[in-house]
Amino acid sequence: MRKPIVAGNWKMNKTRAEATALLAGIKAEVAGLSAVEIVACVPFTDLDVAGQALKGTNIALGAQNIHWAEKGAFTGEISAAMLKELGVTYVIIGHSERRQYFGETDESVNKRTKAALAAGLQPIVCVGETLAEREAGQTTQVVERQVRAGLAGLTGADWDKLVIAYEPVWAIGTGKTATTAQAQEVHACIRRLLGELAGAEAAAQIRIQYGGSMKPDNAKELISQPDIDGGLIGGASLEAKSFADIVRGALR
Ligand code: 13P
Repeated sequence: MRKPIVAGNWKMNKTRAEATALLAGIKAEVAGLSAVEIVACVPFTDLDVAGQALKGTNIALGAQNIHWAEKGAFTGEISAAMLKELGVTYVIIGHSERRQYFGETDESVNKRTKAALAAGLQPIVCVGETLAEREAGQTTQVVERQVRAGLAGLTGADWDKLVIAYEPVWAIGTGKTATTAQAQEVHACIRRLLGELAGAEAAAQIRIQYGGSMKPDNAKELISQPDIDGGLIGGASLEAKSFADIVRGALR
């Protein structure tokens, strides 16, 4: 019913030449594979070459952030129009690294999400608890707050475009993955909440990715869970074979 979606979040990795080489490798690995939606979220400086490389392929182009204003005095920021011009169709919003190191809040996540949707881009909105929050038994509460605030004011067709990534912060880049049961529990909880916010029909269609040390050897089991619809991949997306193996693991 929901088409799985596997996205690579390259973070601050790969120069243009390196990006071109990596995408050539990924393209060869996943050529003709259409049952999984595949996205490469590359650094801003790679968007141009990546957009050229991915034209006409089964891999969509994604960015890692977006500003909410159309234009203006916002040094260091990038607008929806700038992204669209380069062929971007997906944008990661509110990644925990943005929240942790760059002061991103639920409110700024909400503004960026609305701006992306208004421009016809598909947001991948990231949520997830820290280790301290999990150990304090606050996982559900934290994720619920992030979802409610980050998605406040979305209406109608917005929900069809939305992708959510549940990324427990303690699992990112640590080699510690949430167990399938832990991940499924939070995903189910997010979907219940979406039912309340968007209605049952929309909630049943929204893809919820898992992220946090997803690798070829754990992807299949995680994505086989009823409410896990793919992955947002950091480290393992920087190598064509491991990223493609995760994509293949998402085939249902
Ligand atoms: P890793 O796959 O490197 O743990 O990163 C996950 C992530 O943050 C994707 O956005």
